[in-house]
Amino acid sequence: MSSTTADPAGKPANQQFDDSIALDVGKRLFDAGKDIKNILITGGAGFIASFVVRKLVLLYPEYNIYNFDKLDYCASTNNVKSVADKPNYTFIKGDICVKDMVNFVLHEKKIDTILHFAAQTHVDNSFGNSAEFTLNNVMGTHVLLEAARVNHVKKFIHISTDEVYGEVEHGGSELTEESLLAPTNPYSATKAAAEMLVGAYQKSFGLPTIITRSNNVYGPYQYPEKIIPKFVTLLSENSKVFIHGDGSNTRRFIYGTDVADAIEVILHKGATGETYNIGTSFEISNLELTKMLIRQMGLGAREKELITFVEDRPFNDMRYAIDSTKLEALGWAPKVSFEVGLKRSIEWYKTYSRKWWPNISGALVAHPYKSGAQHEIVLQK
Ligand SMILES: NC(=O)c1ccc[n+]([C@@H]2O[C@H](COP(=O)([O-])OP(=O)(O)OC[C@H]3O[C@@H](n4cnc5c(N)ncnc54)[C@H](O)[C@@H]3O)[C@@H](O)[C@H]2O)c1
Repeated sequence: MSSTTADPAGKPANQQFDDSIALDVGKRLFDAGKDIKNILITGGAGFIASFVVRKLVLLYPEYNIYNFDKLDYCASTNNVKSVADKPNYTFIKGDICVKDMVNFVLHEKKIDTILHFAAQTHVDNSFGNSAEFTLNNVMGTHVLLEAARVNHVKKFIHISTDEVYGEVEHGGSELTEESLLAPTNPYSATKAAAEMLVGAYQKSFGLPTIITRSNNVYGPYQYPEKIIPKFVTLLSENSKVFIHGDGSNTRRFIYGTDVADAIEVILHKGATGETYNIGTSFEISNLELTKMLIRQMGLGAREKELITFVEDRPFNDMRYAIDSTKLEALGWAPKVSFEVGLKRSIEWYKTYSRKWWPNISGALVAHPYKSGAQHEIVLQK
């Protein structure tokens, strides 16, 4: 096991940033959980999990938080720098696919709770190297589940996505947790496959699992491969943005701190064996979102010139729509309006995009499509 503060490209992460958003962790909502003491958070140097790491470390000093992350291209230890020196925080550089290490950590740190975020997350990449997604998202989850079973973990919260439901037609009703899973791209297929294993470990072995499915998350700390950080970065550098297809596909968005609040609620009040949707009803097409970003960045006069339409993804779900009533019944509600969250995000990316990660250039192209080389390696092993 090794502990590190270096980012993937070897660039030191301990730069000084005046990042006040990192301290926006809200108010503590619960007493310490009876069986919660040592929490392993996988993928904690990534985007969403870093909101959860910061929140739990700062608001729940009696919990020990172990951030287990392999520091892939999209990760940054800057995301968790604000808590790096806290006594209840430990960073462990490791890969969830490596069984011996995962077992060692669970045993050695007496892990009772796992919040499993680590995954390959970019749909575009999954069209190129889909076996990487199977390896990390399915096999990695399987390794973690088995280690959790052997080490008698008391709570395993698996972070999934609304993309597992597949697309919902315009005008189609919101999907509940009981709806069928019908993923349409390799990313969402691996997330759905991982969910099947989670369900099987719960049924066959009684592993106390919970699944969450959220809609598109946005905010600071997201590697600029996803639409909002990518377009803000490009526009702030006076570059054109690329819209897949005609831009009519819609997405619903939820701000990072609202998801962290949801995880806090589910960790303390979620019922074993249940699945919880985490979503908002704020929905916008990719084209409208792009125009909004252009206007908010003071570039409205150049709108036409700044937008380029490019070939669509091999398949691009028209829309997703989930119903979060079940989670709301536990007392959760989103707090950050899209207007406020977007403003914060724009300011943050204008300042930090090029400083936060060692290299983002490869992400700023129309289709950040990774080659299938890894795919062949995985299949031939
Ligand atoms: N971003 C979204 O809009 C969104 C929406 C719904 C659900 N999700 C889910 O939430 C989770 C987190 O998503 P995100 O966007 O924050 O991810 P991200 O891409 O920002 O970060 C993923 C993190 O996982 C780590 N990781 C990947 N493979 C690993 C492995 N084998 N071992 C250890 N660490 C590994 C990476 O280094 C990185 O820090 C994922 O499971 C994703 O499917 C994301």
